[in-house]
Amino acid sequence: MKRICVTGAAGFIGSNYVRYKLAQDPGVHCIVFDKLTYAGNLDNLKDLPKDRYTFIKGDIADKAAIRAAMEGCDAVVNFAADTHVDRSIMGATDFISTNVTGVYNILESARELKTARVLLVSTDEVYGSIREGSFKETSPPGPRNPYSASKAGGDLMGLAHFETFRTPVMITRGSNTYGPYQYPEKVMPLFITNLIDGQQVPLYKGGENNVRDWLYAEDHASGVDTALMKGEPGNIYNVAGGNERENIVLTRRLLSLLGRGEEFIKLVPDRPGHDFRYSIDASKLRALGWRPKMDWDTGVAKTVEWYKANEWWWRKIKSGEFLAYYKRQYEDRK
Ligand code: NAD
Ligand code: DAU
Repeated sequence: MKRICVTGAAGFIGSNYVRYKLAQDPGVHCIVFDKLTYAGNLDNLKDLPKDRYTFIKGDIADKAAIRAAMEGCDAVVNFAADTHVDRSIMGATDFISTNVTGVYNILESARELKTARVLLVSTDEVYGSIREGSFKETSPPGPRNPYSASKAGGDLMGLAHFETFRTPVMITRGSNTYGPYQYPEKVMPLFITNLIDGQQVPLYKGGENNVRDWLYAEDHASGVDTALMKGEPGNIYNVAGGNERENIVLTRRLLSLLGRGEEFIKLVPDRPGHDFRYSIDASKLRALGWRPKMDWDTGVAKTVEWYKANEWWWRKIKSGEFLAYYKRQYEDRK
């Protein structure tokens, strides 16, 4: 593959994917197409060679813009999304525009341009919560919050496009991802950066024992790439970290790594409809040769070190828009 359009690549996982892909394939050029929402940040790509990618600012909900960016590309990999569950509870209009209409525009553009491969990056959240066992790709969607409902909408449109038009669509459903360049609204970078600053961490009360399966960003990137290169059109591939942890266990690990005591935990009102546990079975992707490389203890320690060493990256973000969001999310909640 010579030219890949990577949408949402100024965000967390998308930028990690471009870094991974450029290192893997010296002959590839990436078109980075991104709207630069509050979560998009060109600093995420700052270390990458400028001649290996072209940045285009645009919105996937704008059909003409995304079609033009995809022209001449062998593949499109879509990371562009509104991604934070708590923000989707405050209002989901943008989530529907990007995660459903935007995905539809990518599919339609791919059909018109005869793009050879279309990879839609999705999430384990579309299956919903599971008390025991793990969801397989054949499990029906059961999204339980506005974010995951919008992602399920995009997935269903992708599968329908494959059935109707044979658009060569693959879908990946990844588990909770962590690592460098994650916007500090998500639990791991939020808690790490608060603790560096000597601030308490807002742990959702009642959700302390809720479980997430942690996947290192580079492993998520390699999972997406495996599905892109080796997956069968019309198929879904789960990308699981294999590191299920209760939120309280994650929190205590971060406290210990940052030398803070239990008094740094502040229990705050729970997320409405807080999904108890996500768990997916990735044996289908493993059968294509994919394996996550990072073990949890090392990954969390490396992540803490990265945020400690890269204050230049997150201090800029934890101002302005972020502070207004933080107040609304944590201080103004009844
Ligand atoms: P992110 O919020 O860090 O980045 C999203 C990026 O998309 C940003 O750069 C933003 O500017 C861009 N974007 C948003 N709307 C756009 C639009 N309309 N047009 C063009 N660009 C737009 O997200 P992330 O955590 O990197 O997630 C990337 C993908 O992976 C998403 O599809 C998400 O659903 C999925 N995913 C995330 C996780 C996770 O734990 N973070 C886990 C599984 C799946
Ligand atoms: O599972 C994949 C999903 O993981 C992705 O599709 C989403 O884009 C991504 O945001 C993530 O969703 P979660 O809701 O699981 O992630 P978040 O970091 O928001 O929360 C993780 C857990 O931590 C969850 O149980 C809620 C809890 N939490 C979160 C925040 C932000 C807290 O206790 N306090 C907090 O302040």
